[in-house]
Amino acid sequence: MRVALLGSTGFLGEQILEVLSMHHDFEVVLLGGFRNVPKLLNQAASFRPQYVYSPHLEGLSIPFHALTRGKELETVLLSDEVEGVFFAASGIAFFETFLKLLRTGKTIWVGSKELLILAGDLEGSGLLLRYPHLIPLDSEHNALWQMLQLLPREEIAKVYITASGGPFYEWQGSFADITPEMALAHPNWKMGAKITVDSANLVNKGLEVMEAFFLFDIPQEKIDVLIQRESVVHALIEMKDGFVFGVFAPPDMRLVIQNAISPRRLEHPFQRLRFTEFRALHFDYPVPQRFQGFYLALYALSRGRGYPTLFCGADEACVHHFLTRNISFEDIPVILEQVLDQDVSPPQSVHEIQRLFQLGFSKAEALIRRRSVLQ
Ligand SMILES: NC(=O)c1ccc[n+]([C@@H]2O[C@H](COP(=O)([O-])OP(=O)(O)OC[C@H]3O[C@@H](n4cnc5c(N)ncnc54)[C@H](OP(=O)(O)O)[C@@H]3O)[C@@H](O)[C@H]2O)c1
Repeated sequence: MRVALLGSTGFLGEQILEVLSMHHDFEVVLLGGFRNVPKLLNQAASFRPQYVYSPHLEGLSIPFHALTRGKELETVLLSDEVEGVFFAASGIAFFETFLKLLRTGKTIWVGSKELLILAGDLEGSGLLLRYPHLIPLDSEHNALWQMLQLLPREEIAKVYITASGGPFYEWQGSFADITPEMALAHPNWKMGAKITVDSANLVNKGLEVMEAFFLFDIPQEKIDVLIQRESVVHALIEMKDGFVFGVFAPPDMRLVIQNAISPRRLEHPFQRLRFTEFRALHFDYPVPQRFQGFYLALYALSRGRGYPTLFCGADEACVHHFLTRNISFEDIPVILEQVLDQDVSPPQSVHEIQRLFQLGFSKAEALIRRRSVLQ
């Protein structure tokens, strides 16, 4: 299959490339990065795609067909040259292209959770029912996707997605003292800065509840989150008769990627689970006082269409300003809550979704500026 990979220079993108390099039925025809041009060109030298994409290639003389504009990229992605696309870039830059690709019936693998949330916020839940060629790459959603292919939906009582709890689950100090360096040290997964900070305050898990809701068309009240400290149980489904099914695997995205690229269960060379190494598996609920950002994400989803996108925009701004030390870790939920305290209408178009995301972002920035002036 001829595939394109957007976000190849990121943590997820690199792991996708590693898995693709082990499966010779995939030909990488396009690699897309952003600021890290040297890494993108190194990857291109190994994979020799027909195209490389980054706006930062503009004006450079390189031995590849360079695409520097979103429109050029979109044309190639929509053409017959590409049969499947991996979305592994952070942010929402490719939202419009993503929606167009969904409608083509090409295989679309999505790691970028914000894209799924925005698409669901625009079109309503049940993305996977409408677009069966869409394949989720988040480990929890991949686990649910695997189970939902086997279990009768109408007999499901509850769906659980799990969270490791992040580095501050047992933290005894004040959240105000958490530095970007501390928040960026995730115990179990290697990921980019935005998702790592989101994982540290569990906002990421809130985004994942939104993602599950929009992908699978499961009512929000049936989706629950459990802290699973060892990160080996990725999702559970409890049936009406009380039996619970679960997906267990080591916390390694390469397993998820390999599962997502093949309808068959393939051998893998990565580490396997050794059950006897676990003395116990620990489950817990996220403590509301500690993880307010998580509960605010659930609140945003429950308020109805428009709020998830507003929340995503506000969170993007909060994480950026936390990483640049303009606000503390403790400030993030305070800002998110204030941004959600307004009325928005359900978005009707791509343009309205983009405007709502921008509204969330700029409202959060305005609040952040006001806080720093007041301090
Ligand atoms: N890492 C994981 O295990 C994991 C698991 C599940 C889901 N995800 C999701 O996958 C996405 C990527 O995560 P990550 O951990 O790989 O993050 P990351 O390491 O920060 O990588 C982000 C990627 O996106 C590219 N990018 C950033 N801004 C862009 C823009 N405006 N236009 C085009 N490309 C842009 C970056 O390019 P440059 O580096 O060249 O600037 C890089 O390739 C996120 O949405 C995350 O939530 C990640």
